[in-house]
Amino acid sequence: MTELRLTKQEQAMLQGDQGPAVRQAMEIVVALATIYEAESLVPVKHVQVAGVSYKNLGDAGLEFLRNWAAQGAQVRVPTTLNPAGMDMAQWAELGIPAAFAEKQQAVVDAYTAMGIEATMTCTPYLIGHRPSFGDHLAWSESSAVSFANSVVGARTNREGGPSALAAAITGRTPLSGFHLDAARLATTVVHVNCDLPAEVDFGALGYMVGRQVRKGVPYFFLHGAHGVGTGPDGEACLRTLGAAMAASGAVALYHIDGVTPEAQRGDMIAAEHQTIQVDSLDAAYAALNRPGQEIDFVSIGCPHASLAQIEQVAALLDGRRLQVPLWVTTARRTRQAAVQRGLVERIEAAGGRVVADTCMVVAPVEALGFSSVATNSAKAAFYMPSHSGTAVRFGSLARCVEAGIAGRWPA
Ligand code: F3S
Repeated sequence: MTELRLTKQEQAMLQGDQGPAVRQAMEIVVALATIYEAESLVPVKHVQVAGVSYKNLGDAGLEFLRNWAAQGAQVRVPTTLNPAGMDMAQWAELGIPAAFAEKQQAVVDAYTAMGIEATMTCTPYLIGHRPSFGDHLAWSESSAVSFANSVVGARTNREGGPSALAAAITGRTPLSGFHLDAARLATTVVHVNCDLPAEVDFGALGYMVGRQVRKGVPYFFLHGAHGVGTGPDGEACLRTLGAAMAASGAVALYHIDGVTPEAQRGDMIAAEHQTIQVDSLDAAYAALNRPGQEIDFVSIGCPHASLAQIEQVAALLDGRRLQVPLWVTTARRTRQAAVQRGLVERIEAAGGRVVADTCMVVAPVEALGFSSVATNSAKAAFYMPSHSGTAVRFGSLARCVEAGIAGRWPA
């Protein structure tokens, strides 16, 4: 049994010298450190808290947060929030019930009372919270965890909502898992022998590989043509890949040979590993597409859209008219930038919306009456049938926009 060593300051927190809220938070961190057999805790530079949508939290979650805030809990490192269950400004016009909105506002109020920045996005790294290589973090949104570990080379486990909050209040997390070198070695080598010409193909690939690798660490060799690092948003494919693998499996870290920072070192594959060959993505597209051609909603922006992705949607919609609602979900700060560039106006002119603070997986979609959704996100396509009871069609951004214009999935 590994013995956990605490510093004097950590012991003082645990004894309640800094009040009951800090003591409760430190008790959670220490309990987790004991479970994971950590030798010590590690200071974190940033925390990202999931568990924000009232749809998922319910009244019990809201009370838990209110109680902690009432005890005077305050974060001691910069901390941001994952998406909420609604756009905090446009909720009424988007059809969110008032009773839901009231509870959702109360959840956000409880978090902000603790000093958390109400960013409500799963891409904090796109709005000024991009970590640096080697930073220790406590992030809880799975796609953001994958991005931080893989694309940036920062270090975080996938925290739960309460454990991330406890890390924010204490400024520490157990020194275990992906904070340590050993866990960052690849357990599966993936040879991708087909081309990946579009961003959506990385979602399909991620869906396939996540199902096979589960909690492991894949190391990709991309042998075909691909779009990583190209275009106005060179990281879009990597965000899509990571989000899909975290959804269909529980992949929190991946490497791509010659692309991601730790893969440049050449010694990131564990001596014992399995090997997978991917020759075609057809099985993934078949699994993520439900039968039926009718579409009554188009969802873009999972993970939350970048400014470049919003620009792509605007360009595809220019001079056209949507038959069904189309939402692009994004961070509020990104939406504000899109307003300034005239992109929101162009999308709204076609009948679409740029929606901030939320996404179609955590919003109460069932209350909005949609039943058949087109999306370019493998993560959304994976979750929406079970979370929201909707049928899903999965394909490229251009195909989703065409579906919105025709009200039917293109043949
Ligand atoms: Fe983000 Fe929601 Fe997708 S939190 S990754 S947009 S499911």
